[in-house]
Parts: sequence; structure tokens; C-alpha cells
Amino acid sequence: MKAEPAEGRAHAKIILVGEHAVVYGFPAIVAPLGNLGAVARVQPHTGPMVLASRYGISGLDRAPQPVTGLRHLTVATLRALGGAPSNLRLSIEATIPPGVGLGSSAAVAIALVRALYRAHRRPLEVERLVRLAEIGERFAHGVPSGLDLWAASSATPLWFVRGRPPTRLTVSRPLAMVVANSGVPSQTRVAVDRVRQRLRVARRPTWSELEHLGTLARAMREALSTGEVERVGSVFTEAHRALEAVGVGHPATSHLAACAARAGALGAKTTGGGLGGSVVAVARDMAHACHLREALLAAGAAAAWTTRLGGVQDGEDA
Ligand code: MEV
Repeated sequence: MKAEPAEGRAHAKIILVGEHAVVYGFPAIVAPLGNLGAVARVQPHTGPMVLASRYGISGLDRAPQPVTGLRHLTVATLRALGGAPSNLRLSIEATIPPGVGLGSSAAVAIALVRALYRAHRRPLEVERLVRLAEIGERFAHGVPSGLDLWAASSATPLWFVRGRPPTRLTVSRPLAMVVANSGVPSQTRVAVDRVRQRLRVARRPTWSELEHLGTLARAMREALSTGEVERVGSVFTEAHRALEAVGVGHPATSHLAACAARAGALGAKTTGGGLGGSVVAVARDMAHACHLREALLAAGAAAAWTTRLGGVQDGEDA
């Protein structure tokens, strides 16, 4: 089937609670960060397939190392569509910084599969979308839990347990937040290995922190549905401590979490893989979120964005 010009989009994600614990079957809560996104565009073109991304423009078979996953993903998606990697130009643009714990690789993978399906005018159920996108994610993260991919494909907050379809979460009272990038690259793969290693050498205490993160996820689900914003904040702070205890903290994210607390945040935590990356803090309202954003930028954050859950998404880019 001849492809037509098409584009696919996906957004960034914020893990509110449960990163790392989700790898071991505990629940996690994830929300969209609509301020940042990825877009993949497909154009008909004559000759071998071309891939253009922030890493340069090349033939798909000569794509540079950072996009190896995208190369495999493109070939697999085209195979699922009954096509071959030729006569197409695929370009990827993303405003999500890579390696900051906000789901850049997942969003790019989701956007790419959506674009290729649209270009071939074929319907795409979300399960198939996530299954295909996982081919790209494996190169970025090893064996991902699937959390990031489901998050990138959903416009609503999700309750996620590995191996099960996620469910939508109710957020009864608007939750104003600020997300700040510490500027230290997050290393999800290394962080996941770090937790696994820690489980080997100190199984009991590490497992009990992961279990505790599961309990915190249940507490947050309840607090979101009853609108107890202060309780959401204290779950954030407790989750931050537990993530540090399993070995994925970093002085840069702890510094930002402490600055957020000093500026009156109801709670703050590292978000995503950790060992650097980003923090997310709960504000009293959007005006307070803007104040926190300024405080975090003044404290050295490389970039920061405000966002709101449970109302119309809004915010601003740094
Ligand atoms: C990374 O965004 C989330 C982790 O829990 C890894 C995963 O779920 O695959 C750290």
C-alpha cells in the first residue's frame, strides 16, 4: 500500500509514584506532561528510506547509534503493515529533552508508530501501538515495564501494574505541579540495574522499600480521588526518600527537592529513572506552581515547567 504524508504525536510523562517498584510488579501512577512532546512525520520519497532526527539525517540502514532502537522499530512497524523500509522519509522532532526522566524515548517511539500507521491509513489499537513501540524502548531501557509507553499514549493519568492494561485515574481536585530538570542526565538503564544489584546484596530492606512504594501508590490513588492535595504532597516526599533508599537518588535532584520544600511545596520527589534527571513538586495552586518554578530555576534547574492535572492542561516551557 502506498504511504501518504502523515504525522503522529505523543507527549512527555511524569511518574507521580512507583518508578522502579513497578518493575517488580508494584503499582505506579503516571500522568501526561502536555507541555512537551514528540512528533514523527512521514513523507513519500523515492529510494531507500531516510531518517531525520536530532542526531542527523541518514539512510535508515546507516542511522547513527542513538537511533538504533528507532531503526529496528521502523522496520518492525513497516513489516506489521506489510511494507518495506523504502520510498519514505521519516523525520522526528521532540521538545522533550532526552535523558531527563520525562519519557522522551517512549514518546518518540509512540509518535513514530502512530505516524507510520496513519501514513498507511490503517487503524491502530492502543495495545498494538504499545507492543510495537516497545521494540524501540528495549534499546533505550533494556526490559522496560511498559509504564512509559502507556503513559506516552494516554491523555489521562493512569494506574499501572506491569502486564495488565492500565486504568484511568480520577483526579477530583486540580493538582498544580512543577517539573524541573536538574541538568544531570538520568540513566534509567543504569538505575534499574542499580536497584537489581541492591536487591542482590541487601534483599530485605530493598524489597521492603519497593513494597512501601506500592503502598504509597495506593495512598496516592485515594488522595487523588478524594482531592487531598496535601496528602498527595506528603506521598511525594515519602516516595523521594524511598527512591533514595533503593539507590537511585542524586545530589542534584535532592537539592531541587529541598529547594521546592523551602519554597513551600507540599511535597517533591525525583521522577523517572533517577540518578539525576528531574523532580516533580506539588504546589498549592497554579500561582504557587509559577513561584516554585522561579525558585527552582534560581536554584540551578536547567529548565522547569508548570502543569495541572484534573483540569485543563496548561503550563509554560522554559
Ligand atoms: C522509567 O521511566 C521508569 C522505571 O520504572 C523503569 C520502567 O518502568 O521500565 C525506572
